[in-house]
Amino acid sequence: MLDLKNKGLTALQDLSKQDILDILSHAGEFKNGLRKNTLDGKVLASCFFEASTRTRLSFESAVARLGGKTIGFADGSSTSQSNKGESFIDTLRMLNCYADGLIMRHPNDGAARLASEVMTIPVINAGDGANQHPTQTLLDLFSIQDSQGSLEGVNLGLMGDLKYSRTIHSLIDASKLFNMRLFLIAPPELRIASENLHELRRHGISYSFHSTAEEVIDRLDCLYLTRLQKERFNGNLDCEYGISLKTLEKAKPNLSILHPLPRLEELPTEIDDTPHAYYFQQAQNGVYVRQALLDIIFGE
Ligand code: CP
Repeated sequence: MLDLKNKGLTALQDLSKQDILDILSHAGEFKNGLRKNTLDGKVLASCFFEASTRTRLSFESAVARLGGKTIGFADGSSTSQSNKGESFIDTLRMLNCYADGLIMRHPNDGAARLASEVMTIPVINAGDGANQHPTQTLLDLFSIQDSQGSLEGVNLGLMGDLKYSRTIHSLIDASKLFNMRLFLIAPPELRIASENLHELRRHGISYSFHSTAEEVIDRLDCLYLTRLQKERFNGNLDCEYGISLKTLEKAKPNLSILHPLPRLEELPTEIDDTPHAYYFQQAQNGVYVRQALLDIIFGE
């Protein structure tokens, strides 16, 4: 994992299947109580140019649990870039002077890759536009493995905004490595982009299109829902989708429902008390996975 140590993580494709399995295995050790001080004396910049609750706070929790400190901002509007016309590149150069690593979320596709080219410290992509959210995918994979016992051959339903959701794009990349069978459930306006479809075909991944979860619920091991990513397109898209208790009537006993959160009406709170609800555990797994990743990047 040489690149991970030198450059950090900007896209899921930067990791081999074995790298991913090693990170998940290490995350399991943190979940089981492993304590380490890898970041003792280190300062990480936590810079979120776009809103976040889970990713920022779970990263900052992971840094603190590893003995490190964070500097940064939760809102790019307070920076000299926003208020004094400083360039993004110069902002990155400054961060390079002040921190041992950068955790960054940005509204622009490719911002993390650009940062990793400009900076000498490791850069971790905490979400860039509609492009990638690799650490979300690592915690999603951890959650699938934790709830199903394995990643191989899982029947995975991807439901909702398959077009604009970066978590979906990263998860589709991962599904190719683990021979998952994909059920793509979305209204016509939100169907998966043609380049993602091309990738699935190129890797021989089995997939099918569906309009509702009810059509396939009896075949799914995991159902991964996403909200409509309203911030990623202009204008209104008038499309409704979601699940209810009725949707789950024919679900397999092992079905786990995942969602990167935040949720909107696609995942009503009536689902929370069912044995299928896994999304809050999924969010908690974010701390263990991010501890594991930081330990690997910054450890000896
Ligand atoms: N899942 C996720 O990325 O949530 P936040 O936008 O709150 O970080």
